[in-house]
Amino acid sequence: MASSPMRYSSLVTRIASDGAEGWAVHHLAMQAEERGQDVIVLSVGDPDFPTPQPIIDAAVDALRSGDTHYASIPGRHTLRSAVAADMARRTGLDLAAENVIITNGTQGALHQASLCLLEEGDEVIALQPMYLTYEATLRMGGAALVSVAQPSTNGFRPDVGAIASAITPATRAIAITTPNNPTGVILTAAELEGIAALAREHDLWVISDEVYSDLLFEGEHISIASLSGMAERTVTVTSLSKSHAMTGWRVGWAVGPSELITHMDTLQLNVNYGVPGFIQTAAYEALVSYRSASNEMRDAYRRRRDIAAAILAECTHIDVLVPEAGMYVMINVERVADSVRAFTEQLYAQKQVSVIDASAFGQAAAGWVRVSFTIGDDRLAEGCRRIVEFVNESADHCGMTGADGANK
Ligand SMILES: Cc1ncc(COP(=O)(O)O)c(C=O)c1O
Repeated sequence: MASSPMRYSSLVTRIASDGAEGWAVHHLAMQAEERGQDVIVLSVGDPDFPTPQPIIDAAVDALRSGDTHYASIPGRHTLRSAVAADMARRTGLDLAAENVIITNGTQGALHQASLCLLEEGDEVIALQPMYLTYEATLRMGGAALVSVAQPSTNGFRPDVGAIASAITPATRAIAITTPNNPTGVILTAAELEGIAALAREHDLWVISDEVYSDLLFEGEHISIASLSGMAERTVTVTSLSKSHAMTGWRVGWAVGPSELITHMDTLQLNVNYGVPGFIQTAAYEALVSYRSASNEMRDAYRRRRDIAAAILAECTHIDVLVPEAGMYVMINVERVADSVRAFTEQLYAQKQVSVIDASAFGQAAAGWVRVSFTIGDDRLAEGCRRIVEFVNESADHCGMTGADGANK
């Protein structure tokens, strides 16, 4: 067909992201897996566990008993109250249903918060590496994204001074992710206090993505909303996707000041009319009766993290960043690869293991590869052994010797 003379809104440019190429290997691996080929997919952020059966039963029962009509747009009062109570227990904040909106996952909450807080002429600071939808989502309403690197030389931890330097009169918000995808870094009380102090001083919103907060291996998760003077300027977004292996259910929420929640409710009315009732019933079951389901998954992820880290650490040509939380381990392959993209392609071609070039999460992660541990222990171990083999062969190929490969 000849190229179309039809015009599109400027939105299509803002939502176009150049990270997509980095996922080509992942898509190839998924197709090969569907064909039954022996590939090991370490490139996905989707838990391999099934959603716990009682949660599925709750949804099926709700459907059978006629819960198939429009549901309350911001979410049912019972579920919103349960989320408020859960967040109040974690933070000590005084929260009610009015502080909560039920959304299509964390992504839905991020999208709505972004459109209700940011517009043309605004700047939003986000810390790199960042989850790959942030760029498009935060820019959707016309705001400019200012990314501040959390340098790998500093363990991918935030540099509060660099965040302060990025603030201008146009800055409206700071977006943070704790624990982080892809690094697994959990922000400490001191780091969060540094960011909170900037937000209070410059009168900024904080958008805090806490979707991995139930999958902690070490340390403590702190919601920035719980810090002094922050509840009124923070929107916390999260979901059941990772905590309860419910990625496909598309259910999560935002917690924030009731005025913001009212605006997000109006937006939701005009975008998707809310989350289906039977899914809300299942979410209530997950939150109220199966809160601890995430503990079992967290323990399995911790065991897998240790398996992956132990095997990868045997390889002297790479550095391993052992995550404090989440479902990914990062390795630095710069000493054996001039191009990380080519490394991931050749690893897949030669060893049938798919991983992600972490620069898809921003240049701050250039040189790094993200390895997911969302598969069973034995396959994970096999995948990591194949990565080590491939790295050692690459090192031999370029004539590297010694533990640090310093002659490359
Ligand atoms: C940091 C981060 N935020 C948001 C999401 C999207 O999660 P949800 O399924 O809750 O929309 C993901 C998914 O991988 C993520 O890693």
